[in-house]
Amino acid sequence: MKTFILLDKDTKRKLPKEFQSDDNRFTENLVEYFLKRYTKAHDKVIDIFAGLGTTLFVAEALGRIPFGIEYDERRVEYVDLRKTTKSTIIHGDAYQLNSYHLPEMDFVITSPPYMHKDEDQNPLTAYSTRGDYQSYLNGLQEIFTRLKTILKTGAHVVIEVSNLKGKEVTTLAWDIAKKISHVLHFHGELIVGWQGKNTGDGTYGYGYDHSYCLVFQKTELV
Ligand SMILES: C[S@@+](CC[C@H](N)C(=O)[O-])C[C@H]1O[C@@H](n2cnc3c(N)ncnc32)[C@H](O)[C@@H]1O
Repeated sequence: MKTFILLDKDTKRKLPKEFQSDDNRFTENLVEYFLKRYTKAHDKVIDIFAGLGTTLFVAEALGRIPFGIEYDERRVEYVDLRKTTKSTIIHGDAYQLNSYHLPEMDFVITSPPYMHKDEDQNPLTAYSTRGDYQSYLNGLQEIFTRLKTILKTGAHVVIEVSNLKGKEVTTLAWDIAKKISHVLHFHGELIVGWQGKNTGDGTYGYGYDHSYCLVFQKTELV
């Protein structure tokens, strides 16, 4: 497995005004890279933090069968209006994924909402409840434990995440890697160096010009 690639940060889809300042979209090329690597036609693919649906749209275009869960109703409406009948977008909570009667999945690619270590609002409830960094990491671990129950053995799980610069650095990518490796086998990381005009002063939006794609696998052992 390669450990470093360069990708263009420019996204293909133009978004409506209300979403344009959202700095949390995958690029299509990132999703395409992993779908081509780990899936084949008709495989079932899920993004449990679906956002504006990048995974679903790219997976549709490549002939995969996409599923998504998204907490924010406006984003779900956006995806729902644009998806084809092959895609399923659920307005819901990744914590509740076991109650949505989802089929077994061949592959997961997702990017969770990020959190700085000094924040005290929980991003996993759209900041509607209080919660510290440790409870956020524990929450993610619980979500991936539940996710594992709907994965086929051998399925890969890719989590795109970045460390965060603030007053101090939050080692978010490394902390998530450690937490989720208790649940799924950690295969390794692919560092994506971001280039192109949307990288502005050389940052990815979180203080870095790169992010991590953490690759896990459901194996017989873990
Ligand atoms: C980093 S964004 C994902 C963006 C996505 N990769 C895209 O290309 O649009 C994280 C998303 O997770 C959603 N979210 C936060 N907590 C959630 C939860 N508990 N269950 C499902 N979605 C959640 C947020 O509303 C946000 O849209």
